[in-house]
Amino acid sequence: MRFSSGTFDAALPCGRLFVMILLLGASGYLGRAFARELRRRGYVFIPLVRRAFDYGQMSLLLQYVRKTTPQLVINAAGYSGRPNVDECEHEPTRTFQANTILPQIVARVCLATNTPWAHVSSGGIYSGARVIEAGRVRIVRDLNQPEIRELYDTHPERFLGFTELDPPNFTFQKGPCGFYAGTKALAEESLQSLGAGYIWRPRIPFGEVDEPCNLLSKLQSYARIYDHVTSLSHVDDCVRACLDLWEQHAPFGIYNVTNPGAVTTREVVEMIQRFLKLDRHFEYWADEEEFYTQGALAPRSSCILDVSKLLSLGIKIRPVKEALAAALKEWRPASPPASPSDPVLLPLGRVGNPAPDRFVHL
Ligand SMILES: NC(=O)c1ccc[n+]([C@@H]2O[C@H](COP(=O)([O-])OP(=O)(O)OC[C@H]3O[C@@H](n4cnc5c(N)ncnc54)[C@H](OP(=O)(O)O)[C@@H]3O)[C@@H](O)[C@H]2O)c1
Repeated sequence: MRFSSGTFDAALPCGRLFVMILLLGASGYLGRAFARELRRRGYVFIPLVRRAFDYGQMSLLLQYVRKTTPQLVINAAGYSGRPNVDECEHEPTRTFQANTILPQIVARVCLATNTPWAHVSSGGIYSGARVIEAGRVRIVRDLNQPEIRELYDTHPERFLGFTELDPPNFTFQKGPCGFYAGTKALAEESLQSLGAGYIWRPRIPFGEVDEPCNLLSKLQSYARIYDHVTSLSHVDDCVRACLDLWEQHAPFGIYNVTNPGAVTTREVVEMIQRFLKLDRHFEYWADEEEFYTQGALAPRSSCILDVSKLLSLGIKIRPVKEALAAALKEWRPASPPASPSDPVLLPLGRVGNPAPDRFVHL
C-alpha cells in the first residue's frame, strides 16, 4: 500500500487548532452514526446530504473543499441496495457510481487539496475465514459447506478472521461475488494510490434502535432467515473506533472495524428471542440451494474479519456477543426526526466562521 502515515496537523475540539470535518453520506445509517458521535465529541462538522448538495460532482466538491478547508473528509456514502443487496444487481450503474466512482472523486479532491480522507468500505469484500487444521492455517472460502459449518459449530476457536494483509477474495477478479461487493473492492483498489487516507471496513451494522438498516430489525422482518457465520459491527462502536483512530493519529491505511469475534445468524436470532421475549417462530432457509434458488439473487459474503490491528493500537471495542446483548437490552423504536425541515447547505460565503452542524437537520 502506498498510504503515508497519519501525521496530519489537526487538533481535538478541546485543543488549540480549529478542526472542521466534512461528512458525506450524512443521511445514511452509518452517516447518521458518525454525525451523532462527532456531535457528542463536540466537533464542528458539515454533514452533507445529496438533496442539498450533489457531492458526487467533482468540480462542486473540489470547490466546496477548497472553501471550507476541512481537516478530514469522511465518505460514509455508498449504495448497498434497498431492500437488500440484490437490488445492486438490478442497479449496476447506481451501485458503481456510489461505491467505486464516488470514493475516487472524494479521494482525488482530497489529494488536490491536501486533505486527509476516510472512506467507509466494507468487510463484505471477503468470503470465508482462515481456519486452523492439523496445526496449519488455510483459507476456507465457503463457510457454509456442511463439514466446515459443523467444524465451526464445534470448534469456533479454530476460525480466524482475515487481516488487512489478506487480499480481498470476494471481488470481480476472484469471484463469484455480488455486484455490491465487487464495486466496494474496486474502490479499495483504486484508493490505494490516492494520498493520505483511511479505509474503514465495517461488516453488517446493528444497534439498539429499530430501523430498516439495523441487522436486528432486518432479521425480525424476514419471512425466512439465511443462517451463516459472520462478523458484525455495532454501528456506534464502529464509528467510535473509526474516530478514535483518527484522533490518535493512527497511521493511514486499511482497518477492519468489527466487534471482535463472529456469530451465526441463528445465534443472533436466539438472542433476539431471549432479550425481546418474542413469542414467535423464525423460519430458516433449508440450505444454500433453497436460499439461492428462491430467496436471493446475489451471492452473499459470509466472512470473519480479524481486528488485531485495531486492538493493537489501543482502540477499545466490545466483543460482538456483548455488543449484541447490550443493543437488545436497550432495544427501542426509532424516534421521529428532530426536524421535518429540509437540509440547508451552509453557504460557501459563510464558511469562515462555521457552526455547520446546526445548518443541516438529519
Ligand atoms: N449497511 C451495511 O450493511 C454496510 C455494511 C458495511 C459497509 N457499509 C458501507 O457503509 C456506507 C454507508 O452505508 P449505509 O448502510 O449507511 O447506507 P444507507 O443508509 O443506504 O446510506 C447511504 C448514504 O449514501 C448516500 N449516497 C450517495 N450517493 C449515493 C448513490 N449514488 N446511491 C445511493 N446512496 C448514495 C445516501 O445519500 P442520499 O440520502 O442522498 O440517498 C446516504 O447518505 C456504504 O459505503 C456501505 O457500502 C454498509
